[in-house]
Amino acid sequence: MKKRIFSGAQPTGNLHIGNYLGALKNWVALQEEYESFFCIVNLHAITLPQNPEILKQKTLDLARIYLASGVNPQVSTIFIQSDVSEHAELTWILSCITRMGELERMTQFKDKGKDNRERASVGLFTYPVLMAADILLYQTDLVPIGQDQKQHLELTRDIAERFNRDFGATFTIPEAFIPPVGAKILSLQEPTKKMSKSDDNANGSVFLLDDADTITKKIRRAVTDSGTEISFDESRPAINNLLTIYQLLTKKSTEECEAHFAEKGYGQFKTELAETVVEFLRPFQEKVKEFDDSELQKILKDGAEKARNVATETLKDVYAKMGIVGTR
Ligand code: AMP
Ligand code: TRP
Repeated sequence: MKKRIFSGAQPTGNLHIGNYLGALKNWVALQEEYESFFCIVNLHAITLPQNPEILKQKTLDLARIYLASGVNPQVSTIFIQSDVSEHAELTWILSCITRMGELERMTQFKDKGKDNRERASVGLFTYPVLMAADILLYQTDLVPIGQDQKQHLELTRDIAERFNRDFGATFTIPEAFIPPVGAKILSLQEPTKKMSKSDDNANGSVFLLDDADTITKKIRRAVTDSGTEISFDESRPAINNLLTIYQLLTKKSTEECEAHFAEKGYGQFKTELAETVVEFLRPFQEKVKEFDDSELQKILKDGAEKARNVATETLKDVYAKMGIVGTR
């Protein structure tokens, strides 16, 4: 039997090249080897205020982005989180065995809630429990994610281990798959921070749907470090980040990348990087437009059904183990 993968992204903002290189690219690379579930996590999205019309649109757009990235619906299960109500149900159960202190330590909550903790939603605080439910419902072996989700995965493992200890073997303990290169693509404007959907400065991120002109301008304006050498160097995060993007898209080795730019300056490097990104995104952007609404609806409906079949089994087992009985 194949091992299982589960991963997801939120249908908020615009997906950027960091989301692709840190997560989606690996989903596609692993999907044949594993039985894969890729979820559009719309219930996570509402932990911050969303405009309902926009959320609706972004949910379907994200399905198109999964498909255009190469997630193959013949091979993988693509579905919308809210279509499988077991996610919300298991979240409640797990929230009863998760400790306040564990959630208090989550750095993403500290970052997102820092402006006004009093007014941050309870949902934002318990967000990692919903993520744990997503993963554990499918008896997931491997979770391909970027660096920023590592702590949430560790919490998921802790919750699963606690449940198994208290109620008997129920959940598979998942492992994170964090790529050795590309797990944290940095902002082009502030290369100390990760590239982010919610960055106020749109120049910091190359969005997957940016047009060629915009991409070229953003890369031209990307900040650089002191020094002129085009080489991988952790102590020069700006050039290191740009070269990482170049390397992942061209599939060249570190040595090949450095040799290629050995005699060249930043101007030439940025021109080539911009061309590489534009050429990479061109077929992707064409593919995004390919799927019509009815085709998409069918993929998502089939996906939800497949997901539900697995999720129901796990939830039934959880209820039985905990003595939650009714007349169902
Ligand atoms: P999100 O859009 O926040 O739901 O993220 C979807 C996936 O992209 C998650 O696995 C993240 O860890 C990953 N991701 C987000 N930002 C970056 C980044 N700057 N570099 C690499 N991976 C990222
Ligand atoms: N929290 C993740 C993010 O913001 C998205 C997510 C939700 C997820 N559920 C998941 C990722 C389960 C992997 C597995 O990026």
